[in-house]
Amino acid sequence: MHNDIKKTLYSEEQIQEKINDLGQMITRDFKEKNPLVICVLKGAFIFMSDLVKKIDIPLEIDFMAVSSYGQSTKSSGVVKIVKDLDVPVEGRDVLIVEDIIDSGLTLSYLVDVLKGRNALSTTIVTLFDKPGGRTVDLEVDYKGFILPNEFVVGYGLDYAEKYRNLPYIGILKNEVYSHS
Ligand code: XMP
Ligand code: MG
Repeated sequence: MHNDIKKTLYSEEQIQEKINDLGQMITRDFKEKNPLVICVLKGAFIFMSDLVKKIDIPLEIDFMAVSSYGQSTKSSGVVKIVKDLDVPVEGRDVLIVEDIIDSGLTLSYLVDVLKGRNALSTTIVTLFDKPGGRTVDLEVDYKGFILPNEFVVGYGLDYAEKYRNLPYIGILKNEVYSHS
């Protein structure tokens, strides 16, 4: 375990097992749909990569980056498209792949944008959900793990851009925050 981590919440094996299950459900539900799978950068890049390998149907992928927390652990409430999609979503069944949902602001904004561009359908899959942080109504179709209202890092998730490479998800030691 990394020296800055206080506690592991889910191991690499537990995460991979969950992604297997999610991939099977999505494979079943999206048969014949040729979905456009959208990764919300940066946090979802590892989940995206592991998930699409478990979806056994034809699909296309694209990437989008939105600003959210910056260097802080609290949501600014400001959502901005930093990198837009390369392909049009009009008439497409879109599957949005997110690492973690907290307030729900990021995804409710994204869903509105994609609906405004006439996506045929929008579906959300998130590996981690923190329902206790929700400030807007958001329908989440596939959820991996439900987390308490605590800041987590690893498996794509960062604190000040660090720890994304940890293959598990965990909670940082308090002194990591006070030293930065
Ligand atoms: P909202 O509040 O818009 O947040 O649903 C979604 C985005 O916030 C980030 N986020 C986290 N990042 N550890 C992180 O490293 C966390 O515990 C955490 N909670 C939310 C994340 O980027 C997500 O896309
Ligand atoms: Mg993110």
